[in-house]
Amino acid sequence: MTTTSHQTFPATFPEGFLWGGATAANQIEGAYAEGGKGLSIQDVMPKGIMELPTEGPTEDNLKQVAIDFYHHYEQDIALFAEMGFKVFRFSIAWSRIFPCGDEETPNEEGLAFYDRVLDELERHGIEPLVTISHYETPLHLVRTYDGWTNRELIGFYERYCRVLFERYGERVKYWLTFNEINSVIHAPFLSGGIPTPKEQLSQQDLYQAIHHELVASARATRLARQIMPEAKVGCMILAMPVYPLTPDPSDVVAAMDAEHANYAFGDIHCRGQYPGYLLRHFRDNGIELEITDQDREDLTHTVDFVSFSYYMSICETADPAKKAQGAGNIMGGVPNPTLEASEWGWQIDPQGLRVVMNDYWERWQKPLFIVENGLGAVDELVEADGVKTVVDDYRIAYLNDHLVQAREAVADGVQLLGYTTWGCIDLVSASTAQMSKRYGFIYVDRNDDGTGTLARYRKKSFDWYRQVIATNGATLQ
Ligand code: BG6
Repeated sequence: MTTTSHQTFPATFPEGFLWGGATAANQIEGAYAEGGKGLSIQDVMPKGIMELPTEGPTEDNLKQVAIDFYHHYEQDIALFAEMGFKVFRFSIAWSRIFPCGDEETPNEEGLAFYDRVLDELERHGIEPLVTISHYETPLHLVRTYDGWTNRELIGFYERYCRVLFERYGERVKYWLTFNEINSVIHAPFLSGGIPTPKEQLSQQDLYQAIHHELVASARATRLARQIMPEAKVGCMILAMPVYPLTPDPSDVVAAMDAEHANYAFGDIHCRGQYPGYLLRHFRDNGIELEITDQDREDLTHTVDFVSFSYYMSICETADPAKKAQGAGNIMGGVPNPTLEASEWGWQIDPQGLRVVMNDYWERWQKPLFIVENGLGAVDELVEADGVKTVVDDYRIAYLNDHLVQAREAVADGVQLLGYTTWGCIDLVSASTAQMSKRYGFIYVDRNDDGTGTLARYRKKSFDWYRQVIATNGATLQ
């Protein structure tokens, strides 16, 4: 008689699980014109994605200073270490390394800054997880080349990757090619540096730009394997499960179609070719992409793991009368009548995380990495026993409930490498460019009007997360 081993699938987070936090350069660094940095799209987005970009930098752009991580990184990394972080996800500002994006040689001062960040992480035994491009295409590439609609960007991006891999390859094992690559469908300027307003952008140009990004991502993966055989390269997807609003089969098909728009990016990254449903979309909409034989070969260099952000789920319906648009992370959807929402209208759905993890794992059979999850909320700084803090029980509840569902997914057999909460230290919001939308375990004294001392304070969730990490999740309830 044979027996089944129940040891194969851990019932909880595996040993060596990478606990930590995540950020992006433009949302934390500040020093927007220091160290030889060029301008990026973020320098002309003072209001986030809510308004059209400005001509040039304006003083009301909170990201010019952000939380000044550029000058506070030692202090901030020490605080992460105090929480017991095993991993820290941050992005490299492309315009610090190549100020215009199309230069032949990189900016040494920019490279040296990330050397110092890596030194500090090493000192504290924290593993770096680097996003190569997180919503900050150099502005020059937008103004001169029309962003990712232009094939030339593939070469510029590859050159940028080569510089990063050669410089940091010995020290960085985990790399992500593009943040939330599928968001380009909804936010072409933010995600693809495409200057044409979304309403005027043709599907043809949009998908050609997407194709260029996908080829660039695959080329980066191939290059990483050549330069750093030990490295692991992941794609990064904005995960937002789509439920049918009702059991009506037409709603189920509408939800399936909406899911396809997002699955496509993971399918191509993991299977190395375009899926049938996307080719059908091209055929039905008269889209004819320029795809070379070399592109097809490039795309076969698939990723090692799939990383994703998860904040919420949405619904979809085939009934035009019910097609209300709710708020959401870059893309909204039809609101779910059974769920509560955050102060910014993002619907909270911890079980959706388990759903998405099972889905992705079954679909791609690649290890997963949750690289963003968290609650953006208004925090009130109070004084308790002479110490300033924030009593953020709402954040603790949100994170606890999501982590419990992540643990359920692990028990379901999903292979999960790690979990980094979004905005582990307060930062400037991507969608609204506010400071008041806070995600952190660490409060940063800076306000929406730019005032504040930039002092850092530990919130109640700081100690909560420290205990979660120390017990490898055993304190979750
Ligand atoms: C993700 C982005 O979409 O969501 C982050 O990768 C962003 O850059 C995060 O900050 C949260 O969104 P927001 O708009 O609340 O900052």
